Amino acid sequence: MNDGVIINEVGLRDGLQNQPRLINTEQKLQLADKLIAAGIKHIEATSFVNPKAVPQMADAGAVVAGLPHSAELNYSVLVPNMKGYQRAVASGMKNIGLVIAVSDTFNQKNIRMTLDTAREMCFEVINQAKQDGNTIRVYLSTACFCPYEGEIKVDRVHQLASQMINHGATEISIADTTGSGVPNQIDAICRPLVEQFKDVIFNLHVHDTAGQATAMVWAGYLAGIRSFDASIGGLGGCPFSPGASGNVATEDLVYLFEKSNINTGISLAGLSSAVRYAEEITGQKLGGKAMHWYWSQQKRLNLVK
Ligand code: COA
Ligand code: ZN
Repeated sequence: MNDGVIINEVGLRDGLQNQPRLINTEQKLQLADKLIAAGIKHIEATSFVNPKAVPQMADAGAVVAGLPHSAELNYSVLVPNMKGYQRAVASGMKNIGLVIAVSDTFNQKNIRMTLDTAREMCFEVINQAKQDGNTIRVYLSTACFCPYEGEIKVDRVHQLASQMINHGATEISIADTTGSGVPNQIDAICRPLVEQFKDVIFNLHVHDTAGQATAMVWAGYLAGIRSFDASIGGLGGCPFSPGASGNVATEDLVYLFEKSNINTGISLAGLSSAVRYAEEITGQKLGGKAMHWYWSQQKRLNLVK
């Protein structure tokens, strides 16, 4: 028997941040309700970024204020700088995701800082979080590939991860922002980190642009990762990563793990209504392959009834 995995739902943030149709706070909160009803317990609810840079996240404070609470629900938010951290903490959040790219150019495009400035900013935010008793998960974005610099060498990811950990980060997320990685690359990045830093929690954040996402997640699992970001229906894409498609679909990970007898605590039937609702509010056809499999099974069962 295994202890299962954590699936951290990032649809409300990564999934919605780049949607052409504005999603209002009420709709975001309804989507959160449906995700929770499906068994999701870890949710990245929003990001505290410059609303001029990402208008979909302008209601971050209102989203946090409207979230339902219970002992088993864990929320986090993403921030790009100290101002975002302060806004997040003022809203009552204690689990903060902090983003820095491995690629210098991507930092400049995404958060308008050089890698060196972004690194210093991360150290300051980690220091502040330690004083405040909050947890910081540092997202190392463009860990496999940068849309501006190309392939990223594994050593650069290891170096930045070590710097963050040595400075006190207790959680690190390896983020294939563009969805260009392959399982072998994930193994090469994750295995040495998991082996070297036993007290650190590692998370994997992948996009499905090249169709490798579930395979990369499985490689991460085999390398010892037990926490994975995913987005309902495969929603998403980063505004600063041209051409990148959505995150790996939550339902694809639920199917992958549950069928492999690895507990997620999440039901495909429950996710089905969340995907339908996400389709309604975004006006897009959604659903990972596993959701389409589930729908086809339901149709077949209804036919034989
Ligand atoms: N939340 C809200 N507003 C913020 C902010 C934050 N975290 N950080 C800065 N701002 C505001 C400043 O107050 C200032 O406002 P003003 O124009 O009313 O004076 C304005 O943004 C510019 O501030 P500055 O520090 O010069 O930031 P910038 O223009 O260099 O932008 C970021 C830097 C990080 C704030 C911006 O690039 C950003 O929000 N990026 C997020 C990108 C993102 O979400 N990517 C996807 C997730 S990885
Ligand atoms: Zn992402």
